[in-house]
Amino acid sequence: MKVRLEKVSARHPAARAGAPAALLGLEMELGAGDQVAVIGPSGAGKTTLLHVLACAIRPDAGRLDLDGRDPWQLTRRELRRLRGTLFLAPQLPPLPPRQRVVTAVLAGRLPRISLAHSLRSLFYPTGIAMADAALARFDLSDKLFARVDRLSGGERQRVALARALVAQPRLLLVDEPLAALDPTRAAQAMASLTQAARESGASLVTTLHDVAMALANFPRILGMREGQLMFDLPSAQVTPERLQALYAQHLDELEGPAPVLEQRPVAAQVAIAVNCR
Ligand SMILES: Nc1ncnc2c1ncn2[C@@H]1O[C@H](COP(=O)(O)OP(=O)(O)O)[C@@H](O)[C@H]1O
Ligand SMILES: [Mg+2]
Repeated sequence: MKVRLEKVSARHPAARAGAPAALLGLEMELGAGDQVAVIGPSGAGKTTLLHVLACAIRPDAGRLDLDGRDPWQLTRRELRRLRGTLFLAPQLPPLPPRQRVVTAVLAGRLPRISLAHSLRSLFYPTGIAMADAALARFDLSDKLFARVDRLSGGERQRVALARALVAQPRLLLVDEPLAALDPTRAAQAMASLTQAARESGASLVTTLHDVAMALANFPRILGMREGQLMFDLPSAQVTPERLQALYAQHLDELEGPAPVLEQRPVAAQVAIAVNCR
Protein backbone atom coordinates (compact mmCIF):
# COMPACT_ATOMS: atom_id res chain seq x y z
CA MET A 1 0.00 0.00 0.00
CA LYS A 2 1.24 3.49 -0.85
CA VAL A 3 1.21 5.89 2.07
CA ARG A 4 1.61 9.64 2.25
CA LEU A 5 1.42 12.03 5.18
CA GLU A 6 1.12 15.71 4.34
CA LYS A 7 1.82 18.04 7.27
CA VAL A 8 -0.07 15.77 9.63
CA SER A 9 -0.63 16.90 13.20
CA ALA A 10 -2.38 14.66 15.69
CA ARG A 11 -2.83 14.17 19.41
CA HIS A 12 -3.66 11.24 21.60
CA PRO A 13 -7.43 11.08 22.21
CA ALA A 14 -6.78 11.08 25.98
CA ALA A 15 -4.34 14.03 25.88
CA ARG A 16 -5.42 16.93 28.08
CA ALA A 17 -6.52 20.16 26.43
CA GLY A 18 -3.55 22.39 25.69
CA ALA A 19 -1.03 19.53 25.72
CA PRO A 20 1.39 19.71 22.82
CA ALA A 21 0.41 17.64 19.80
CA ALA A 22 2.01 14.18 19.60
CA LEU A 23 2.64 14.68 15.87
CA LEU A 24 3.52 18.09 14.46
CA GLY A 25 3.35 18.65 10.72
CA LEU A 26 4.73 15.25 9.81
CA GLU A 27 5.61 14.58 6.17
CA MET A 28 6.49 11.14 4.89
CA GLU A 29 5.98 8.86 1.95
CA LEU A 30 6.08 5.09 1.63
CA GLY A 31 5.92 3.03 -1.55
CA ALA A 32 4.02 -0.24 -1.87
CA GLY A 33 6.02 -3.00 -0.17
CA ASP A 34 8.46 -0.58 1.48
CA GLN A 35 9.83 -1.40 4.91
CA VAL A 36 10.80 1.29 7.43
CA ALA A 37 11.72 1.36 11.10
CA VAL A 38 10.76 4.32 13.29
CA ILE A 39 13.14 5.13 16.13
CA GLY A 40 13.39 7.94 18.66
CA PRO A 41 13.10 8.59 22.40
CA SER A 42 9.94 7.79 24.39
CA GLY A 43 7.20 10.29 23.84
CA ALA A 44 8.50 11.11 20.34
CA GLY A 45 5.13 10.17 18.84
CA LYS A 46 6.06 6.80 17.31
CA THR A 47 2.98 4.96 18.58
CA THR A 48 0.76 7.88 17.64
CA LEU A 49 2.16 7.75 14.11
CA LEU A 50 1.20 4.07 13.84
CA HIS A 51 -2.30 4.88 15.10
CA VAL A 52 -2.69 7.62 12.50
CA LEU A 53 -1.54 5.24 9.75
CA ALA A 54 -3.98 2.61 11.04
CA CYS A 55 -6.80 5.19 10.76
CA ALA A 56 -7.36 4.80 14.50
CA ILE A 57 -6.56 8.46 15.25
CA ARG A 58 -7.86 11.16 12.96
CA PRO A 59 -5.33 13.92 12.25
CA ASP A 60 -6.16 17.39 13.65
CA ALA A 61 -4.52 18.91 10.60
CA GLY A 62 -2.92 17.80 7.36
CA ARG A 63 -3.81 14.85 5.22
CA LEU A 64 -3.30 11.12 5.26
CA ASP A 65 -3.31 9.41 1.89
CA LEU A 66 -3.53 5.63 1.52
CA ASP A 67 -3.32 4.39 -2.06
CA GLY A 68 -4.46 7.77 -3.33
CA ARG A 69 -7.43 8.15 -1.01
CA ASP A 70 -7.99 10.15 2.16
CA PRO A 71 -9.50 7.58 4.57
CA TRP A 72 -11.31 10.30 6.46
CA GLN A 73 -13.23 11.32 3.35
CA LEU A 74 -14.54 7.80 2.74
CA THR A 75 -17.97 6.53 3.65
CA ARG A 76 -18.17 4.43 6.82
CA ARG A 77 -18.47 1.28 4.79
CA GLU A 78 -15.46 2.17 2.61
CA LEU A 79 -13.45 3.08 5.68
CA ARG A 80 -14.34 -0.25 7.28
CA ARG A 81 -13.21 -2.07 4.16
CA LEU A 82 -9.97 -0.08 4.09
CA ARG A 83 -9.32 -0.85 7.79
CA GLY A 84 -9.63 -4.54 6.90
CA THR A 85 -6.45 -4.16 4.84
CA LEU A 86 -4.47 -2.47 7.65
CA PHE A 87 -3.17 -4.24 10.71
CA LEU A 88 -1.78 -2.61 13.82
CA ALA A 89 0.02 -4.97 16.18
CA PRO A 90 0.06 -3.03 19.48
CA GLN A 91 2.93 -3.08 21.93
CA LEU A 92 0.85 -4.99 24.48
CA PRO A 93 -1.22 -7.40 22.42
CA PRO A 94 -4.69 -8.00 23.85
CA LEU A 95 -4.81 -11.79 24.05
CA PRO A 96 -7.76 -13.07 26.08
CA PRO A 97 -6.68 -15.50 28.82
CA ARG A 98 -7.92 -19.08 28.53
CA GLN A 99 -7.95 -18.75 24.74
CA ARG A 100 -6.00 -21.32 22.74
CA VAL A 101 -3.10 -20.03 20.70
CA VAL A 102 -4.71 -21.24 17.46
CA THR A 103 -7.83 -19.17 18.19
CA ALA A 104 -5.81 -16.12 19.14
CA VAL A 105 -3.80 -16.32 15.91
CA LEU A 106 -6.80 -16.85 13.66
CA ALA A 107 -8.53 -13.88 15.30
CA GLY A 108 -6.15 -11.85 13.16
CA ARG A 109 -8.43 -12.61 10.24
CA LEU A 110 -11.50 -11.11 11.92
CA PRO A 111 -11.25 -7.69 10.35
CA ARG A 112 -11.24 -9.23 6.89
CA ILE A 113 -13.92 -11.87 7.01
CA SER A 114 -17.30 -12.19 8.62
CA LEU A 115 -17.53 -13.33 12.21
CA ALA A 116 -19.61 -16.38 11.28
CA HIS A 117 -17.12 -17.41 8.64
CA SER A 118 -14.14 -16.89 10.91
CA LEU A 119 -15.70 -18.92 13.72
CA ARG A 120 -16.59 -21.70 11.31
CA SER A 121 -13.11 -21.61 9.81
CA LEU A 122 -11.58 -22.31 13.21
CA PHE A 123 -12.80 -25.85 12.88
CA TYR A 124 -11.52 -26.40 9.39
CA PRO A 125 -8.04 -27.62 8.66
CA THR A 126 -7.21 -24.67 6.40
CA GLY A 127 -7.50 -22.28 9.30
CA ILE A 128 -5.41 -24.48 11.54
CA ALA A 129 -2.79 -24.98 8.84
CA MET A 130 -2.62 -21.22 8.34
CA ALA A 131 -2.16 -20.60 12.07
CA ASP A 132 0.45 -23.34 12.23
CA ALA A 133 2.41 -21.89 9.31
CA ALA A 134 2.38 -18.43 10.89
CA LEU A 135 3.45 -19.81 14.28
CA ALA A 136 6.21 -21.85 12.63
CA ARG A 137 7.80 -18.62 11.38
CA PHE A 138 8.24 -17.66 15.02
CA ASP A 139 9.28 -21.13 16.17
CA LEU A 140 6.03 -21.71 18.06
CA SER A 141 4.41 -24.65 16.24
CA ASP A 142 4.44 -26.70 19.42
CA LYS A 143 2.17 -24.14 21.11
CA LEU A 144 -0.69 -24.35 18.61
CA PHE A 145 -3.18 -25.69 21.15
CA ALA A 146 -1.60 -24.22 24.28
CA ARG A 147 -3.55 -21.73 26.37
CA VAL A 148 -2.47 -18.15 25.89
CA ASP A 149 -2.22 -17.53 29.63
CA ARG A 150 0.29 -20.36 29.99
CA LEU A 151 2.76 -18.65 27.64
CA SER A 152 5.71 -16.52 28.63
CA GLY A 153 5.67 -12.82 27.75
CA GLY A 154 8.01 -13.44 24.84
CA GLU A 155 5.88 -16.29 23.51
CA ARG A 156 2.80 -14.09 23.70
CA GLN A 157 4.58 -11.37 21.78
CA ARG A 158 5.46 -13.91 19.06
CA VAL A 159 1.85 -15.16 18.98
CA ALA A 160 0.81 -11.56 18.37
CA LEU A 161 3.21 -11.36 15.41
CA ALA A 162 1.81 -14.62 13.99
CA ARG A 163 -1.64 -13.11 14.34
CA ALA A 164 -0.51 -10.05 12.38
CA LEU A 165 0.70 -12.28 9.52
CA VAL A 166 -2.54 -14.24 9.40
CA ALA A 167 -4.37 -10.96 8.95
CA GLN A 168 -2.61 -10.62 5.55
CA PRO A 169 -2.72 -6.84 5.61
CA ARG A 170 -1.47 -4.58 2.83
CA LEU A 171 -0.06 -2.22 5.43
CA LEU A 172 1.42 -3.82 8.53
CA LEU A 173 2.08 -1.56 11.51
CA VAL A 174 4.01 -3.09 14.38
CA ASP A 175 4.66 -1.30 17.67
CA GLU A 176 7.78 -2.37 19.58
CA PRO A 177 7.52 -6.05 18.69
CA LEU A 178 10.67 -7.15 20.48
CA ALA A 179 10.32 -5.67 23.97
CA ALA A 180 9.76 -9.04 25.69
CA LEU A 181 12.20 -11.10 23.60
CA ASP A 182 15.77 -12.11 24.34
CA PRO A 183 18.34 -11.00 21.73
CA THR A 184 18.38 -14.28 19.77
CA ARG A 185 14.61 -14.55 19.61
CA ALA A 186 14.35 -10.88 18.77
CA ALA A 187 16.69 -11.26 15.81
CA GLN A 188 14.79 -14.32 14.56
CA ALA A 189 11.41 -12.63 15.00
CA MET A 190 12.57 -9.52 13.16
CA ALA A 191 13.91 -11.56 10.25
CA SER A 192 10.66 -13.57 10.04
CA LEU A 193 8.53 -10.47 10.17
CA THR A 194 10.40 -8.62 7.41
CA GLN A 195 10.56 -11.73 5.25
CA ALA A 196 6.83 -12.43 5.60
CA ALA A 197 6.03 -8.83 4.69
CA ARG A 198 8.31 -9.08 1.64
CA GLU A 199 6.69 -12.30 0.49
CA SER A 200 3.18 -10.87 0.75
CA GLY A 201 4.16 -7.47 -0.67
CA ALA A 202 2.78 -5.69 2.42
CA SER A 203 4.28 -2.35 3.39
CA LEU A 204 5.78 -2.54 6.86
CA VAL A 205 6.26 0.19 9.45
CA THR A 206 7.80 -0.91 12.75
CA THR A 207 8.71 1.16 15.78
CA LEU A 208 11.80 -0.09 17.59
CA HIS A 209 13.66 1.09 20.65
CA ASP A 210 16.47 -1.25 19.67
CA VAL A 211 18.46 0.89 17.25
CA ALA A 212 20.85 -1.91 16.31
CA MET A 213 17.91 -4.10 15.33
CA ALA A 214 16.43 -1.29 13.25
CA LEU A 215 19.68 -0.67 11.38
CA ALA A 216 20.30 -4.37 10.80
CA ASN A 217 16.86 -5.20 9.44
CA PHE A 218 15.52 -2.13 7.69
CA PRO A 219 16.81 -0.33 4.61
CA ARG A 220 15.29 2.95 5.76
CA ILE A 221 15.04 4.61 9.15
CA LEU A 222 12.78 7.42 10.33
CA GLY A 223 14.11 9.29 13.36
CA MET A 224 11.35 10.96 15.37
CA ARG A 225 11.57 13.39 18.21
CA GLU A 226 8.92 15.61 19.82
CA GLY A 227 6.37 14.80 17.17
CA GLN A 228 8.63 15.70 14.28
CA LEU A 229 10.72 13.85 11.78
CA MET A 230 14.40 14.52 12.51
CA PHE A 231 15.59 12.36 9.64
CA ASP A 232 14.39 9.92 7.00
CA LEU A 233 17.48 8.12 5.76
CA PRO A 234 18.86 4.90 4.33
CA SER A 235 20.16 2.98 7.34
CA ALA A 236 23.77 3.27 6.13
CA GLN A 237 23.52 7.05 6.59
CA VAL A 238 22.30 6.90 10.18
CA THR A 239 25.55 7.90 11.83
CA PRO A 240 26.36 7.96 15.56
CA GLU A 241 26.19 11.76 15.40
CA ARG A 242 22.62 11.61 14.12
CA LEU A 243 21.69 9.08 16.80
CA GLN A 244 23.19 11.27 19.49
CA ALA A 245 21.25 14.27 18.25
CA LEU A 246 18.05 12.21 18.05
CA TYR A 247 18.41 10.91 21.59
CA ALA A 248 19.94 14.07 23.10
CA GLN A 249 18.78 14.37 26.75
CA HIS A 250 17.50 10.79 26.40
CA LEU A 251 20.84 9.08 25.91
CA ASP A 252 19.95 6.63 28.68
CA GLU A 253 17.45 5.17 26.21
CA LEU A 254 20.39 4.25 24.03
CA GLU A 255 21.33 1.90 26.87
CA GLY A 256 25.00 1.17 27.19
CA PRO A 257 27.90 3.53 26.65
CA ALA A 258 27.23 6.67 24.68
CA PRO A 259 28.86 6.59 21.27
CA VAL A 260 32.42 7.82 21.23
CA LEU A 261 32.72 10.17 18.34
CA GLU A 262 36.42 11.01 18.13
CA GLN A 263 39.52 9.02 17.25
CA ARG A 264 37.72 6.01 15.86
CA PRO A 265 37.16 4.77 12.35
CA VAL A 266 33.58 5.22 11.17
CA ALA A 267 32.76 1.49 11.17
CA ALA A 268 33.81 1.17 14.81
CA GLN A 269 31.74 4.21 15.76
CA VAL A 270 28.62 2.70 14.26
CA ALA A 271 29.26 -0.62 16.00
CA ILE A 272 29.44 1.18 19.34
CA ALA A 273 26.48 3.43 18.72
CA VAL A 274 24.16 0.67 17.68
CA ASN A 275 25.21 -1.87 20.23
CA CYS A 276 22.66 -0.54 22.62
CA ARG A 277 18.94 -0.80 23.12
N1 LIG B 1 -2.51 7.48 26.94
C1 LIG B 1 -2.18 8.76 26.69
N2 LIG B 1 -2.86 9.77 27.24
C2 LIG B 1 -2.55 11.04 26.98
N3 LIG B 1 -1.54 11.43 26.18
C3 LIG B 1 -0.83 10.48 25.62
C4 LIG B 1 -1.09 9.09 25.81
N4 LIG B 1 -0.22 8.38 25.08
C5 LIG B 1 0.55 9.27 24.45
N5 LIG B 1 0.21 10.53 24.76
C6 LIG B 1 0.86 11.77 24.28
O1 LIG B 1 1.40 11.56 23.00
C7 LIG B 1 2.81 11.82 23.00
C8 LIG B 1 3.45 10.82 22.08
O2 LIG B 1 3.31 9.54 22.64
P1 LIG B 1 3.62 8.20 21.85
O3 LIG B 1 3.08 8.31 20.49
O4 LIG B 1 3.14 7.08 22.71
O5 LIG B 1 5.22 8.24 21.80
P2 LIG B 1 6.28 7.05 21.65
O6 LIG B 1 5.55 5.87 21.10
O7 LIG B 1 7.32 7.60 20.72
O8 LIG B 1 6.84 6.80 23.00
C9 LIG B 1 3.23 11.71 24.45
O9 LIG B 1 4.32 12.53 24.74
C10 LIG B 1 2.01 12.17 25.17
O10 LIG B 1 2.02 13.57 25.25
MG1 LIG C 1 5.35 3.94 21.79
